[in-house]
Amino acid sequence: MRIGILLSGRGSNFLAIADSIRQGRLAGAEIAVVISNLADAQGITAARERGLNGVVIEGRGRKRAEHDAEILECLRQHGVELVCLAGYMRLLSPGFIHAYPDRILNIHPSLLPAFPGLEAQQQAFDYGVKVAGCTVHFVDEHLDHGVIILQKTVPVLDSDDAHALAKRILEQEHIAYSEAIARVISGRYQISGRHYLLRDEAAEKS
Ligand code: GRF
Repeated sequence: MRIGILLSGRGSNFLAIADSIRQGRLAGAEIAVVISNLADAQGITAARERGLNGVVIEGRGRKRAEHDAEILECLRQHGVELVCLAGYMRLLSPGFIHAYPDRILNIHPSLLPAFPGLEAQQQAFDYGVKVAGCTVHFVDEHLDHGVIILQKTVPVLDSDDAHALAKRILEQEHIAYSEAIARVISGRYQISGRHYLLRDEAAEKS
């Protein structure tokens, strides 16, 4: 499975995925290209340092559809089959989403549907929740909305501030994203409405 990563920033989720592949924990996966919409994204520098294809496709001041078309072209050139958003800070156009049906994943640092959008960890902290976490989901046309593949929870401690909470969530993000990719690559699932359901192969054969 050839993976295309889209990012805009630090790239720690991308690096966690790259580490999983390198350590043989994501059999059958390879990162074909890493694309950033920002030239100074740390993640793109990290990609190039690892010898991966790092491509900057600037989005500033451009129409979304036109920018997305260029990204799609780049993904196709690299034979990408699965797109992973890893801190990609632009909304995707419907044309992009339709080009990769159920083949675009995103990670969000909250237990969706709570706290979509920006600064989810701060939102959760400010709300006073006792349990927080992260969500890996398929991307659809609505913000942080598509079918959920998996979620991981963390406790919110009395001693926390939003920064400490975000750090605890991020540790789980790094585990969750690779797990979700492995599940998608395995193909052993079905989507029924909003439900992502694991298929039990043994049960199917009997
Ligand atoms: C992560 O918290 C992720 O959940 C959100 O954006 C952040 C990206 O962090 N979508 P990084 O660039 O992967 O370190």
